[in-house]
Amino acid sequence: KGKKRKRNGTTNTPTNKPDTTTQSIEVDSRPEKRIEEPESKSQLPRPATNGAKQLHNRSKSNRPPPNGRPSNPPLPPHLSKRRDALLPFRQALPIYQHADSIRAALSTKNTLILTGETGSGKSTQVPQFLLSQPWCKKCIAITQPRRVAAISLARRVAEEMGSSLGNASPASKVGYSVRFDNAAGPNTRVKFLTEGMLLQEMLRDPELKQYSAVVVDEVHERSVNVDLILGFLKKMQKEGKRKDAMKVVVMSATADVEGLVKFFDDEEGDIGCKKIERVQTDGVQSAESEKAKGKGKQKSGSGGVENGVVPVTDTKSEPSSTVSTCFVEGRQYPVKTIYLPEPTQDFVESALKSIFQIHYKEPMPGDILVFLTGQDTVEALERLVNEYAQGMEEGVPKILALPLFAALPQHAQQKIFQPAPSKTRKVILATNIAETSVTVPGVRFVVDSGKVKIKHFRNRLGLDSLLVKPISRSAAIQRQGRAGREAPGQCYRLYTEQDYASLEPRTTPEILRCDLSAALLTMKARGVEDVLNFPFLDPPPREALEKALLQLLQLGALTETGEISEIGLKISKLPLTPTLGRVLVEAARPERDCLLDIIDIISCLSVENIFVNLVTEEKKEEAEAARRELYKREGDHMTLLTTVQRYAEERSDRKVWTEKHFVSHRAMQNVMDIRKQLRQNCVQLSLLPSSSTAHSNSNSTDPSSNPSASHDSRTRSILHSLLRGFAANTARLMPDGSYRTLLGNQTVAIHPSSVLFGRKVEAIVFSEFVFTNKSYARGVSAVQLDWVGEVLEEVGG
Ligand code: CDP
Repeated sequence: KGKKRKRNGTTNTPTNKPDTTTQSIEVDSRPEKRIEEPESKSQLPRPATNGAKQLHNRSKSNRPPPNGRPSNPPLPPHLSKRRDALLPFRQALPIYQHADSIRAALSTKNTLILTGETGSGKSTQVPQFLLSQPWCKKCIAITQPRRVAAISLARRVAEEMGSSLGNASPASKVGYSVRFDNAAGPNTRVKFLTEGMLLQEMLRDPELKQYSAVVVDEVHERSVNVDLILGFLKKMQKEGKRKDAMKVVVMSATADVEGLVKFFDDEEGDIGCKKIERVQTDGVQSAESEKAKGKGKQKSGSGGVENGVVPVTDTKSEPSSTVSTCFVEGRQYPVKTIYLPEPTQDFVESALKSIFQIHYKEPMPGDILVFLTGQDTVEALERLVNEYAQGMEEGVPKILALPLFAALPQHAQQKIFQPAPSKTRKVILATNIAETSVTVPGVRFVVDSGKVKIKHFRNRLGLDSLLVKPISRSAAIQRQGRAGREAPGQCYRLYTEQDYASLEPRTTPEILRCDLSAALLTMKARGVEDVLNFPFLDPPPREALEKALLQLLQLGALTETGEISEIGLKISKLPLTPTLGRVLVEAARPERDCLLDIIDIISCLSVENIFVNLVTEEKKEEAEAARRELYKREGDHMTLLTTVQRYAEERSDRKVWTEKHFVSHRAMQNVMDIRKQLRQNCVQLSLLPSSSTAHSNSNSTDPSSNPSASHDSRTRSILHSLLRGFAANTARLMPDGSYRTLLGNQTVAIHPSSVLFGRKVEAIVFSEFVFTNKSYARGVSAVQLDWVGEVLEEVGG
């Protein structure tokens, strides 16, 4: 323990992990034995470290904390019991022995880059380590790329701290804030938020004055939002407007430590134009990182190791460095990797086979985690697994299939963290959300499709589209590692070993491959005038930035001189893409007057799919017949509106209604949550009167339920509003029967899932572009060609 050794780069063998740091010291903190949860407090083991001791003492007494806050009232017994029961688990986490180092690093420096493998305890423990610090008088923000993670972490940390969640009582210390759901109050001291929500808060409070520290988690995912947050935080630090220096902790599972240190340490200020050298995770290292590694080693060598606690070492030898780094070793047992001998054409089917092969061959306990691409493949496999599981013989342990994707409603997410009933194996069917963001306990088997659904900007079309792509090698290693957190495990890769070798070493940051209009609008709203010189960790190509500026101009979100307009300001305050935001603002104009309907439609577009995907032809026909009453000849958007309306008006059992119509009940619950939140947002922006947030289920002027003469004009208003936002997503019918986009002149086909599939209409507007074997328009409405002409004239297209 505490032995210093230099990390080697990883190879393809499962037990080796990527070299995630170049200059820090590694501590092998794998626990010898799993600590069992004690029945009562008297059985608690003695805390292992100083940090643990402090925490243990604090939890037992009501002494006022060092920051002078008044002591808290005694905790309700069920909360304190749970908190005490969880303490030994916390103490056994690898990060625990770094608690003092982490605190020490932040007492002298304002920025800490913390690298630690998934499950080492970063997200749950770091905020708790910092709360007791004298500089920490306010709240700590921890950002997450996904709402599922933000909510589940908040729930967990609340339990660990013996607090209720949200703003339920004055004892609630932990909260969260995610799009369409805010559960934080004035007493919240630890707040988990999605990256998008922190950016929203920055609009209201540019210096983030309510926070003593911002912890940016999961930085390795390199979402556009995380890159923006890093840029804003760096700018804030450089401008130094806040009197009490805010602490910044940047956490990552596979960090590019070099790049991050350089980024935050750069004093010259022209970092936005620099290309930052990256450290490879697969053993190939840049000369510069090797050099830096040498420096780090020397320094830590002289620092020494006391009581198994490794002092945090600065990556830079210059005393002026403002950044500290720390590396925490995760737990990793060996994982055996099994490849397919031949490539598969259908990974859903291959995954099904692997699941049952494992279930029949491998002993219990040991849950299975399957990595798929999106809600569609997750739900398709869920149905198949359930179908096959019904046919299992007596005596074979049961299977409990649990989906996990970003849009999953909260109560469904919680099931993933609960232990399976006895003699039952959990099979978690997940998107890449389970790669690093969410830790599912009990997993010993991983089935990896090798695919991920990611957003890609298609330059020729000028649109973002979701593409299914091979994962990167570092993602494959992360997925594989999920099998070896608690015991030796197995990883079934649904691709060949040659395919693995040909994967890209790492995933390209989103900012280099996506539409940047939302990012630029956020920057403009936050007062960044010169967006081209913003401090980006990886500066996007100039053309991509210019294209996004043009798009914002076309939406009317920017003025001719490049300043944010009134419309742009409104859009920037909505939790929507600029395109959908523009649709919403258009619908609120008096001449359109269809805001509630548009909110219903946008709520549906914000979940992946409200209709159940069907596998067999027979089922498809049955569903067609059942859904016929919902289908609208105007297209998918009016169909969505009718579906929401019928669901909302359903007086008897809504679940039964959804089953009858092959509509996803899960998705509809989400839609209703989003609808409520969007109505509230519109009231805040004075787009709706406050009476509209009442839980009214019907829109007073719903065209689908009102067959009067106003039907046509309302439908027209709705379609016009959609057109204003989606002017770039319009296509006209060509003499040969194909559709061509009006901007860009590209061929698109109507997606088979559309109610307009197979129909010929003079022009279409669509809300999504998908590219599989060809270019498809999904979410399609029929419009008149002259309407398209009018809107294109307005946007200057
Ligand atoms: O951030 P990092 O991946 O390093 O770890 P973490 O999210 O802090 O999780 C540490 C441990 O806390 C996990 O291995 C789980 O055992 C537990 N945990 C949990 O039970 N429920 C959660 N929602 C989050 C974490």
